[in-house]
Amino acid sequence: MTRIGFAYNQKPDAVSTTLGQTLGESVDAPAGDEEPPSRAGASSAIDASAAAPAASDDEFAEWDGPETIAAVESALAELGEVVRLEATPDFPERLRAERPDIVFNMAEGLRGVNREAHVPAILEFFGTPYSGSDPFTLSLSLDKARTKEWLTCHGIPNAPFVLVREGDDADALAERVRARGLRFPLFAKPVHEGSSKGITERNFCGSPDELRHAVAFLLESYAQPVLVEEFLPGREFTCAVLGNGDAARVLPIVGMNFGALPAGALPIYGFEAKWLWDRPENPLEIFECPARVDARLLSAIERVTLGAYHALGCRDWSRVDVRLDAAGAPHVVEVNPLPGILPDPADNSCFPKAARAAGMSYDELIQSCLLLAAERQGVAITATAAARKARAALAAA
Ligand SMILES: Nc1ncnc2c1ncn2[C@@H]1O[C@H](COP(=O)(O)OP(=O)(O)O)[C@@H](O)[C@H]1O
Ligand SMILES: [Mg+2]
Repeated sequence: MTRIGFAYNQKPDAVSTTLGQTLGESVDAPAGDEEPPSRAGASSAIDASAAAPAASDDEFAEWDGPETIAAVESALAELGEVVRLEATPDFPERLRAERPDIVFNMAEGLRGVNREAHVPAILEFFGTPYSGSDPFTLSLSLDKARTKEWLTCHGIPNAPFVLVREGDDADALAERVRARGLRFPLFAKPVHEGSSKGITERNFCGSPDELRHAVAFLLESYAQPVLVEEFLPGREFTCAVLGNGDAARVLPIVGMNFGALPAGALPIYGFEAKWLWDRPENPLEIFECPARVDARLLSAIERVTLGAYHALGCRDWSRVDVRLDAAGAPHVVEVNPLPGILPDPADNSCFPKAARAAGMSYDELIQSCLLLAAERQGVAITATAAARKARAALAAA
């Protein structure tokens, strides 16, 4: 029986618990690349009546809830014996003691700008095969500015930007924006967050004055540089990629229907849409999968998606966010090598949604990711009926 380690970070139970209390020490707020835990557990953290979120409201947005962890574990259990390895500070010792044949990694990590890379780096240190992207790709993708530089080097379209650091002078900022040829409106966001942390309507900057305010707020609230880029006014898609090398493919793409947002809302998939407006009692019908696009646009979106996936060195799976510019050309917004995978279809999690549209169940998606990783690293997975079924679903997707 294959021994499958399972690395994850679990959300603290009580939303009033600070992360520092949870870990018994002082650490940065966690973050990464994920999707809303909309209906599961942590959504109770958010006061739906709040007009705009305070920075602290989204502190726990990245962590996986017990339902997701249990669902992934149950999918993996059909392929082998699962050993839970929560990515807490004793992770290295437990990994050494348990000696799994392969690890399914969805750990966001605890602290710092390289947090998503820590678990894979430890796995590499111990020579343990694991699923998903390597530490370098995870760190690179979490830094949206470096990701954009890298994409630009590889000729993958993305919005022009400047990076603003604490202490940068406001007038100098306006000058830099002008000098780089950036045209208003602009969009400002924390450079290494996920789950729409720090992304609200206030990030839209129609004028130098609004830009100054947005940048000052984000610098102060998130204690990290702010990415300022041109606002991409067109349609938005998120694209799930599964596979490696030439066999990597884009699953049916998910389109955002911004018409579902409240009247007058800015057409973005930000904090308000993910956390405030999408409620169990009033679900937001924002996703369309497969998105309605013509063959030409579909192939242009798939081209930039796969281009980004390969340029960043993604492995096994990733989700790429894409928006169209004013001329209708697809641009990469960001790449998520640890995609959100909420199990309940009602949770509006895009990767499982795309998999379902490709005829793949949640279990088959998780199992496919592990099978891809195993194949890539020459790890034998016990040939259970589930493994055969997942292989067939992957081949057909
Ligand atoms: N340059 C941009 N132009 C228009 N909308 C943007 C831009 N950057 C981000 N957004 C909007 O903000 C959302 C969240 O941004 P993203 O960088 O994907 O952050 P996260 O890591 O939180 O998902 C996007 O899905 C998109 O709707
Ligand atoms: Mg995103």
